[in-house]
Amino acid sequence: MKKWITLLATICSFHLFAQQDIKLEEAKFKTGDNSNWKELSFDDSQWGNIKSSANWEFQSYPDYNGYAWYRFHFKLPSSIKDKSLWKDSLRIALGKIDDDDEAYLNGILIGKTQGWNIFREYHIAANNPAILWDADNVIAIRVLDTGGGGGMYGKDQHISMMDIIDGISMKLQFNATEAAIVIHNSVSKKIEGKLIVSVTDPETNKVFENVIKQVSVKAGENFLLKTANDVSKKLLITANFEESLTHKTIHISQSTPYILTPAPSAFPKINGATVFGVRPGSPVLYKIAATGEKPLQYAVENLPEGLKVDAATGIIAGTIKLPGTYTMKLKVKNPKGIAARTFKIKVGDVLALTPPMGWNSWNCWGLSVSTEKVESSAKALIDKGLINHGWSFINIDDGWEEPTRDADGNVISNSKFPDMKVLSDWLHNNGLKFGIYSSPGPKTCGGYLGSYQHEINDATTYAKWGIDYLKYDWCSYENIAGKDTSLATYQKPYAIMRDALLKQNRDIVFSLCQYGMKNVWEWGDKVNGNCWRTTGDIEDTWESLKSIGFSQTVQHKYTKPGRWSDPDMLIVGQVGWGENLHPTRLTPDEQYTHISLWSLLSAPLLIGCDISKLDDFTLNLLSNDEVIAVNQDALGKEAKQILNKGSYQVWIKELEDGSHAVGIFNLSDNYQTIQINWNDIDLKKANAKKVRDLWRQKDLGIYKNLFGTKVAPHGVTLIKVID
Ligand code: GAL
Repeated sequence: MKKWITLLATICSFHLFAQQDIKLEEAKFKTGDNSNWKELSFDDSQWGNIKSSANWEFQSYPDYNGYAWYRFHFKLPSSIKDKSLWKDSLRIALGKIDDDDEAYLNGILIGKTQGWNIFREYHIAANNPAILWDADNVIAIRVLDTGGGGGMYGKDQHISMMDIIDGISMKLQFNATEAAIVIHNSVSKKIEGKLIVSVTDPETNKVFENVIKQVSVKAGENFLLKTANDVSKKLLITANFEESLTHKTIHISQSTPYILTPAPSAFPKINGATVFGVRPGSPVLYKIAATGEKPLQYAVENLPEGLKVDAATGIIAGTIKLPGTYTMKLKVKNPKGIAARTFKIKVGDVLALTPPMGWNSWNCWGLSVSTEKVESSAKALIDKGLINHGWSFINIDDGWEEPTRDADGNVISNSKFPDMKVLSDWLHNNGLKFGIYSSPGPKTCGGYLGSYQHEINDATTYAKWGIDYLKYDWCSYENIAGKDTSLATYQKPYAIMRDALLKQNRDIVFSLCQYGMKNVWEWGDKVNGNCWRTTGDIEDTWESLKSIGFSQTVQHKYTKPGRWSDPDMLIVGQVGWGENLHPTRLTPDEQYTHISLWSLLSAPLLIGCDISKLDDFTLNLLSNDEVIAVNQDALGKEAKQILNKGSYQVWIKELEDGSHAVGIFNLSDNYQTIQINWNDIDLKKANAKKVRDLWRQKDLGIYKNLFGTKVAPHGVTLIKVID
């Protein structure tokens, strides 16, 4: 039985006829709360204006938490009802709302939802007396924001009639070799329509397949059409389904999960960071990351006193007492040859001299994380070879804590984690590092026990368990901070935990998580943060990736070794935030963009999927040493957005060897040939430059002034430019 993976991503899937929708893009807005504000007759002409696409923090209401109201005014022409087949219900799509909402149409409640990460789509009968056809209407939304981002966000907030097309879905599925188009009918009757499929090479426009088919699908059933028989190659599959009664259409246009990273050679090669930071006297644990035919033999020349290297595993361990920079040579050999590379251990007070790389449980398992789930991803990280490319942290996010402390005030792990020390020793013996999660508030975001007023206890417990990384998440500290929004209040809980961590006899990387409040990138180093989340939570959609990734325009000023801006964890592979995982909804090109951009941004790289279910495409995506080297570059710069032309952007990162990594991103929905002039991206020094394609690991040639590249929709060309 071949395993089909569904690409839920349908970036280009839309219903034509969308022009009949009524857009809800801009509203009248006021903070505060008053039940009269739901009424149609209320006069809001003195209120401010706000867009529904972004939280109010991005629209002149920084730091506001509490109630606020949106009021959308619109006319509802009965022609939209007449033009629909069913004519029976109206859809009111409000996007996402942070945190809770109550939505009223002309004063009458039409829906309410609690929780910030949930799409609001309310349906009401077309004959509901609340609807005023061919007249002025008002949708008033009462929003409660309990902290962090607040208000409406997302895209495509609109009103439209529900129709037969809403009961039909079309998606692409892939197994290791083939693709299939699946049409599902959830309408209670048989549906019919015309399906047109084409498979082309998006680079050359060469057509490989063209199929036109009359399709009929019984109620509740699927129609499946196999197509494209080598999905590891870059092919564009386009499918158009036209429902025969309404002539409304569903459209998909998507790339195959094509592989770019060449397979590793049998010859030994050393990968990963070239520098490692540790405090004097703290335990060193560093596994030399290397590929090549097994078995590999490891050795280190000039190994500092106090350290040992295991020749069979490449794990360097021990302690160094005196501060300083220790330079050594790593050596890895097998019968095919020998690889050598300079490596530095900097003994001082800065940790995480390159961005942390590893795995975190949240984006896959959410609060359902358990020892078995952690071990299974850790084991897969080793078995599938990710460890050989520098991936090393295994971090448990929220959900591991027992609700109450022991009699001495110590935090204890719950029944899903029977023995943290055993888990920790197992990870360390395998050359991996161990991370954990807590909140400075009494409760974590998931409602588990936080560290409030027990910071020393907790830091001591973490050290006893052998913890190497702490993600410290603001959450219920919001209630402690109350109405005090001063900078000192935002810094205080992080400074308390900083002091507690510094008292421990081991190094614990300190990851601040407070969603970027008070421009944390400007002061995260003062509380000894090694990384700091700059935004709210990411999710596996292009909108989320784009708004988070491409908004990191000022952080580079503050980034340096040991101080990294964190635009949140990776959303590739099988994700789900709970028991039910699904393949990421990002297209392959969006995933290349994700890893390229995070590498340019020097972001911590924390894989957020179940690694035991890693498919070939995702493994290939996470194993490109030349791309990872951009992220791990020892100079520690973060990329700058050097060109923003709307439909495309160019980001540039200075590297230790004097060269530059350049990401050319196509933000549009169509293929684009993008030409950049070295002068436009501040690479003036010399005219002719050598260009290397990092994903393909291939030299492209010498380019005098201009470099042109054809880039996929939402995709990237990532190059290294060498003088
Ligand atoms: C959120 C945080 C997520 C995850 C979650 C756990 O605040 O941003 O990354 O840690 O809490 O409850």
